[in-house]
Amino acid sequence: MASITIRGLDDALKTRLRLRAARSGRSMEDEARTILRAAAADDVRSMAEPAPVARAGATPPLDAGPSGRRILLIIGGGIAAYKSLDLIRRLKERGATVRCILTAAAREFITPLSVGALSGERVFTDLFDPASELDVGHIRLARGTDLVVVAPATADLMAKMAGGHADDLATAVLLATDRRVLIAPAMNPRMWGHAATRRNLTQLAADRIAVVGPGTGEMAEPGEAGIGRMAEPLEIVAAAEALLATSPDHRVERSLRGRRLLVTSGPTQEPIDPVRYIANRSSGKQGHAIAAAAAAAGAEVILVCGPVHIPDPLGVTAVKVETAREMRDAVERALPVDCAVFAAAVADWRLAAPGREKIKKSKGAAPTLRLVENPDILAEVAHRKAKRPRLVIGFAAETEKVVAHAKDKLKRKGCDWILANDVSAETGIMGGDRNRVHLITAEGVESWPPQSKDEVARALVERIAAALKASGS
Ligand code: CTP
Repeated sequence: MASITIRGLDDALKTRLRLRAARSGRSMEDEARTILRAAAADDVRSMAEPAPVARAGATPPLDAGPSGRRILLIIGGGIAAYKSLDLIRRLKERGATVRCILTAAAREFITPLSVGALSGERVFTDLFDPASELDVGHIRLARGTDLVVVAPATADLMAKMAGGHADDLATAVLLATDRRVLIAPAMNPRMWGHAATRRNLTQLAADRIAVVGPGTGEMAEPGEAGIGRMAEPLEIVAAAEALLATSPDHRVERSLRGRRLLVTSGPTQEPIDPVRYIANRSSGKQGHAIAAAAAAAGAEVILVCGPVHIPDPLGVTAVKVETAREMRDAVERALPVDCAVFAAAVADWRLAAPGREKIKKSKGAAPTLRLVENPDILAEVAHRKAKRPRLVIGFAAETEKVVAHAKDKLKRKGCDWILANDVSAETGIMGGDRNRVHLITAEGVESWPPQSKDEVARALVERIAAALKASGS
């Protein structure tokens, strides 16, 4: 075993090391070896295996989100820090895992408590946090992410980044990371225009740091206006998304890498006249979660979705449609794919002749709506001779005899698997966050326990990956 020199460490590190060594009853050298061994094992594991599931108290890798896009958000100390709270929400809505570091100055504006409540993750503030295992914690934070976002990036943080400083957790992580970094500068217009900031910006661009904003507008200081306002959260999300789309893939296990998946999601709306339509209660949550999980597993995902009130997951190509016939056309255009999952609640009927003008009330005579059947998109794709996906998966929304009806649907529609769920009002499944499904295949019926729609999505994606692999290409 190589010898370890403790002398080279600075005093703060030595104090931490002494404390750890005393707690574990080891010498300082042995303790340092233990830490290095754990870090090395961690590195090897992160190269070879899926990262372990996060445990409370440890510093887990950022791999646990529904879409699996792991974003490390560094919040600097500026009045714009309050907008970062909204940014967290927006990123999470898109299925990302968001872990946050607050600089000391940021804590003057917002609290770790609010950031933790919004992100649902432990918040990091301290370079020498004993709970983050001495100096190894910041290396893990730096590596266990797909993208680092600095918002707001103050003039001071930008100067430190340009100069390669590492005197707190935020700057140490920024220096230690090899992931793409996106900054959203926010400062007073004079600071933004200062020669030093211009110089730092040029250096950061040369270091491949991406920049979003700043915009022009009123400053927090009364009477001040000009360029320096932090970009709006949705602009930052768009910039992050663009970077993620082109960033190399850092996830270890990408079970659907190289596969192309199609997912339909949400309801369809069938017009009655220009202002009215027939629709259903589908929220799109399950379909979107499947698209997000497939993208996280490395697939190229085309999400064809009806009108929903939830955002597109990160990293998927979303095609928006309204009617069943538009959905059918978009599905046809997306082929060929390796696997197609039909989670949309497609309206079975549409009006034979929707009114060109708003249908007016006429006394005593309610209009008669003549309906015709919509194309059955799932059945059409499953029965295709050419370009049939290797795996065609449907859903069965039932309110009674769930499994029996779903088995019948599997046969009728010609799909390979069907996920049956009970959508009676009392289950709260339609529109809710949880689901209870039965997976019906040629081999039989598997009843999955009640779980979140994200969990159902991840489990399904793993089954799809295994089936495609077993089918031999
Ligand atoms: N589906 C489809 N196109 C349709 C109707 C349904 O692609 N026009 C798909 C759904 O996305 C789902 C499956 O078929 O994957 C079953 O949908 P469901 O509404 O449960 O069944 P229906 O075919 O509509 O039959 P029923 O209404 O009689 O239960």
